[in-house]
Amino acid sequence: MKGIIAAGGEGTRLAPLTTATNKHLLSVYDKPVIYYGIHTLVEAGIDEILIVTNPHHINDYVKLLGSGKDFISINTGHQIQIVYAIQNEPLGIGHNLAMARGFIGNDSCLFHLGDNIFMDNIKPYVDTFNGGARVFLKEVQDPERFGVAEINESGKILSIEEKPKKPKTNYAVTGLYMYDNSVVQKTIGQHKSDRGEYEITSINNLYVKEGTLEGVFLEKEWFDTGTFDSLLDASIFIRNLKNSKDKK
Ligand code: DAU
Repeated sequence: MKGIIAAGGEGTRLAPLTTATNKHLLSVYDKPVIYYGIHTLVEAGIDEILIVTNPHHINDYVKLLGSGKDFISINTGHQIQIVYAIQNEPLGIGHNLAMARGFIGNDSCLFHLGDNIFMDNIKPYVDTFNGGARVFLKEVQDPERFGVAEINESGKILSIEEKPKKPKTNYAVTGLYMYDNSVVQKTIGQHKSDRGEYEITSINNLYVKEGTLEGVFLEKEWFDTGTFDSLLDASIFIRNLKNSKDKK
């Protein structure tokens, strides 16, 4: 399975923090945001990662991460491989994923939104994946900020709505998506949503239509660091976690 991190976008909600830099390079306690996403993929057993970012910041990523020298594969004990692609314009998350088609090749992929931070270990879900797609859900108080999943009594996902004004549930679809190789085809011929973006939710709904989208509830903390509050919350959480580990 290949790993992809979406690290484009404009980060306008975080201005002026993001006026001169990219939001995934901001700090969460002692590391840039993007380190946490890479860690999640590496811990899941992924050795090849593509970072898809915008033309203005790609050099900063190369400077920070190089070919992946700071990350060691759990499979080989050697460094993982990080490569890069450019998303020329921030046309949406579905568009960002389309930039990874060549990299995915004939493989499956784990697509991670660069501003999300996950505390769960995703490896068991990678190891048991056998086609279709998996999304990771979390119950939240403010579902209108997210993709929201409607599920039936047996946990099957019936639909996902992107930032609905009247959410049907409190179940946010977090920014981590596991796809079989049919995602490559699904990124071709996407249509823009009413808000003018190629939505990842539209791709997920193609899997819903096929009846192959599985929802899994995360057990641990999850942060979408796209707001000032969540960026700070994530920093405080990581600091407390580190301090409690240091005391042991
Ligand atoms: O955080 C989870 C949510 O992320 C999901 O629940 C939503 O369904 C999903 O649409 C997304 O919503 P956001 O409003 O949080 O998306 P945002 O525009 O902040 O972008 C999320 C990440 O994707 C961020 O790391 C930047 C990157 N991105 C975004 C766009 C629009 C790109 O790389 N390229 C883009 O064109």
